[in-house]
Amino acid sequence: MANISSLFVTRLYHAALSSRGKPIDTAELEASCLSIAEDDEAGQNWCEENQFPGYTSYASLSDLPWRFSIFKDLQKALDKHVAAFAEDLAFDLGDKKLQLEDLWINILPEGGIHTGHLHPHSVISGTTYVAMPEGTSAIKFEDPRLAMMMAAPPRKADAKANRRTFAYVAPDVGDVLLWESWLRHEVPMNMAPEDRISVSFNYRWG
Ligand SMILES: [Fe+2]
Repeated sequence: MANISSLFVTRLYHAALSSRGKPIDTAELEASCLSIAEDDEAGQNWCEENQFPGYTSYASLSDLPWRFSIFKDLQKALDKHVAAFAEDLAFDLGDKKLQLEDLWINILPEGGIHTGHLHPHSVISGTTYVAMPEGTSAIKFEDPRLAMMMAAPPRKADAKANRRTFAYVAPDVGDVLLWESWLRHEVPMNMAPEDRISVSFNYRWG
């Protein structure tokens, strides 16, 4: 009997945000995201100038946890989730910690997409889900070895999840996903008539 093992596995962390830290009221978080978006003219202008679908606070507001207590509570919960993931990844962090670098709101309207990207200069990235209307997009992750698969055959339609080239994950409201920042991902088109709302973030080392 042959022994076939998995090497160099890509880990994905998926948990209920409320499973660590102070529980976050997702209805209040949604209301906060919407009111910040409405007030943030610099962000709205940036999205328009850059043909960004919907709204992101990424380019305009760099201090959400300082300005709004619900984002401060969110950061505290995320710190705990990230620490748990770092433990799972067996990271030897020495005397430096993983620290929040950026945290931003995304509001993706019907027809909006976020094309494939990774998050440079960071170690752990992730998203917590604030509004996921029925029929909205899953997040799509790409096998990081894809560029090396010059002659690899495609995978069978019924291949196990960890044998596939792409992974689709459809989180619920109040979930948090974490991955290593080099993992390429995208949000396919939001086919739901309602907005898909999420808060994304990056953690750096030290
Ligand atoms: Fe991203």
